[in-house]
Amino acid sequence: MELIVARNRADLVKARGEGRLALVPTMGALHEGHRSLIRSARAAAAQVVVSIFVNPLQFGPNEDFSRYPRTFDADLDVCREEGVDVVFAPSVEEMYDPARQVGVSAGRMGAIVEGVIRPGHFDGMLTVVLKLFNLVQPDVAYFGQKDAQQLALIRRMVADLDVPVEIVAGATVREPDGLALSSRNRYLSPQERQAALALSSALRAGAAEKGPAAIRAAALAVLKQAPIELDYLALVEPGTFEEVPDSYAGPAILAVAAKVGTTRLIDNIPMGNVGT
Ligand code: PAF
Repeated sequence: MELIVARNRADLVKARGEGRLALVPTMGALHEGHRSLIRSARAAAAQVVVSIFVNPLQFGPNEDFSRYPRTFDADLDVCREEGVDVVFAPSVEEMYDPARQVGVSAGRMGAIVEGVIRPGHFDGMLTVVLKLFNLVQPDVAYFGQKDAQQLALIRRMVADLDVPVEIVAGATVREPDGLALSSRNRYLSPQERQAALALSSALRAGAAEKGPAAIRAAALAVLKQAPIELDYLALVEPGTFEEVPDSYAGPAILAVAAKVGTTRLIDNIPMGNVGT
């Protein structure tokens, strides 16, 4: 089947087929992590829609919106190779009415951890995800575990606003040396790429320990040795992203964010039970 590129609402309506519909929302610059989400979607649904939209609402004034990688033709090739049915690639004007006023508020979970460094980011992200759900009307949508706080917030939004979409998480895809795949990795020089390995090494060092204090200490010891600018290391409860106390036992996510040169990277590792 020929890949359909839908640029607007009317195209989307025309492209809609029969049966279970899966949506994989992306900002393009597709890599193996996206491919793995698309493959899961392809295996589970009759129709697969990939959205490609660099959403201005989720970038702060000093962030990389204008230089965010845009590789549309290569992205279409990936979608063709993975058997995607429809790529929804609207313009900013198609998505946002200049008179728009209403958006989604991410609440407290949007203002902690990653939200401290990127105020407003999660409001903008949830707003576009809800719009994509309304436009595409998927039965199921796929998101990567690498953006763990984003994933937790999307699950929260779906529960809080009764959005009739099933959310499926895809495991983080890594390079053989541990670096988590990210569209932003292409900004890294060879030396920076080497330094960026500290993030995944720190997470592995933390995950090898027992008890929140030992986990944080082991991960921080690795991060301190690296030529990076640490934004945060956080050990959080997966549903709320609240920091867990040292006395905590139960599931948690160890999350890290750092600048490597001028590139900001995030990574995380889910942990089954962090107790002693
Ligand atoms: O993870 C992303 O690429 C984006 O945040 C998303 C979910 C496509 C919303 O713009």
